[in-house]
Amino acid sequence: MTKTAEQEVALNSETLDMLREMCERNLAHHVAKGEKPVFGEGPSDSRIMIIGEAPGAKEARTGRPFVGNAGRLLTTLLVEIGLERNEVYITNILKTHPRGNRTPNRRMILEQLPYLKRQIQMIAPGIMVLLGATALKGLIDPHARITRLRGTWLRFEGIPTLVTYHPAAVFHDDTKKELLRQDFQALRKELDRR
Ligand code: URA
Repeated sequence: MTKTAEQEVALNSETLDMLREMCERNLAHHVAKGEKPVFGEGPSDSRIMIIGEAPGAKEARTGRPFVGNAGRLLTTLLVEIGLERNEVYITNILKTHPRGNRTPNRRMILEQLPYLKRQIQMIAPGIMVLLGATALKGLIDPHARITRLRGTWLRFEGIPTLVTYHPAAVFHDDTKKELLRQDFQALRKELDRR
């Protein structure tokens, strides 16, 4: 029986560090000169996992997720609900910066998804937050619509998963900031309920 990419990744990664190494090695061909894959960062036993779209140029240079303007807004949203950035695990659907800053296509997502799925299994968060359409479509359903599902809770492999806008969406449409704030308040409520 041939193994799926997901089974292959799971078999060869007993620890998060092993998974990171495998991910960085296998995806090296997608990385431009001077850039690195961005695996994700945060406590390996974090109860909250936040998933964005893909690293931008700054993230790829530093190897860290959400270190630009969208990251600053994400940090503010977390602080407003009493969380420190370093309390949560932050990563992306795609681990490499898409050339030309393109929105990740389905082929790229499917190639890289086994790493994220294994990462979720290993961290085993109590709650996940999906930031934006790419995270929603990549993890839940390619036909899902962010405008319809934002502000709702779904389940991914049994994990309660909040869908909200990507913080960068606020830079194009300021009215989304209030909706993002509301969704982070819902996250706070869910944490308090536990
Ligand atoms: N936008 C994302 O979706 N992820 C990052 O890491 C940075 C910006």
